Amino acid sequence: MSFKFNYYIPTRIFFGKGSLNRLQKAKLPGKKAMIITGGTSTTKLGYVDRVVSLLKERGIESVVYNKIQPNPSHVQINEGAAIIRKEGCDFLVGIGGGSSIDSAKAMSMAATNEGDVWDYISGKARMSNPTLPVVAIPTTAGTGTEADQWFVVTNEKSNQKIGWGGDKFYPVLSIVDPDLMMSVPPAYTAYQGMDAFYHAVEGYIAKVASPVSEMFSLKAIELIGEYLPRAFADGSDEEARAAMATASTLAGMVEALSSTTSEHAMEHALSAYHPELTHGAGLIMISEAYHKFFAPKLPDRYIVMAKVLGYPDSQDPMDFVRALSDLIKKTGTDSLKMSEFGIDEIDINDLADNAMATGGAMFKADRVELKKEDVMKIYWESYK
Ligand SMILES: [Fe+2]
Repeated sequence: MSFKFNYYIPTRIFFGKGSLNRLQKAKLPGKKAMIITGGTSTTKLGYVDRVVSLLKERGIESVVYNKIQPNPSHVQINEGAAIIRKEGCDFLVGIGGGSSIDSAKAMSMAATNEGDVWDYISGKARMSNPTLPVVAIPTTAGTGTEADQWFVVTNEKSNQKIGWGGDKFYPVLSIVDPDLMMSVPPAYTAYQGMDAFYHAVEGYIAKVASPVSEMFSLKAIELIGEYLPRAFADGSDEEARAAMATASTLAGMVEALSSTTSEHAMEHALSAYHPELTHGAGLIMISEAYHKFFAPKLPDRYIVMAKVLGYPDSQDPMDFVRALSDLIKKTGTDSLKMSEFGIDEIDINDLADNAMATGGAMFKADRVELKKEDVMKIYWESYK
């Protein structure tokens, strides 16, 4: 165990049932907001209208940009940034799943820094102006982006999906209200909940884990093991939804303080080639093969995780893999295979190259170095 750590999470978080109403009095960072969202469920369920009217009551104008797609592309970010400039918005509200909040973070840079946002993300250009402040309102329990400084953007032309960010990208305010998560359908509850699970697990096995991040990881893993099957079986279970929202935000703090590992890099390669693939589903597909590889190599870490996942007396790191398989079965996602998502066997070589080139930093967070043949073997085992 390493007793070294850095801690910096400057986001004010209002958490709990009904907390959306905090918008009535919370300190807000501007006078005109651009609300960034996906345009389907957040609109249909009336969440966007509620935010617009809560802001209006305080004399804050807003413009709605509701075109965010899953796996948002840099083209979309550039488009949104141009509207922010034209409308003169001075802060952004991302409401929805990770894609909406991540887009708000990316636009917070693109709106104030000239040119194509991809130039900044790919390292071709450097930011010269400050970002706009972001308020995050998640309506799913999964990404944890409300509590971290990262966002993910895809370049569909070059098949690159890159996680990027830094201290400037922490939201100034996040409102996590489990009431907004009650309508997520079962399959997405499972995909998103498992995304949070992998954030917590990867953050725990990463080289840069610390006593603080480990505390958040283990609590998130324990909550997800207990409550995700309940939230999946009955979406109206308020306690399960609140527990999952807690786990997701804790796992976001893990991402802020530790790191995801090569598992996330391998999934980003899958959804870079197949943007229709949901991130959580991609992770579930590769996770059993991935953790079967790592568990015997890091027995102490995996035994501790197995202990909070229903094996209190565990002495065997493979108990974690058994608990993972069991969790996946209980959430109806055990049949997900790469072959069913139009991914071709012959692509595995390219996927491995893409994961290692684009997600190099995440491979560096691994305690055991993965060779290309290991990456291919994990994909291969996940194929059928
Ligand atoms: Fe993720």
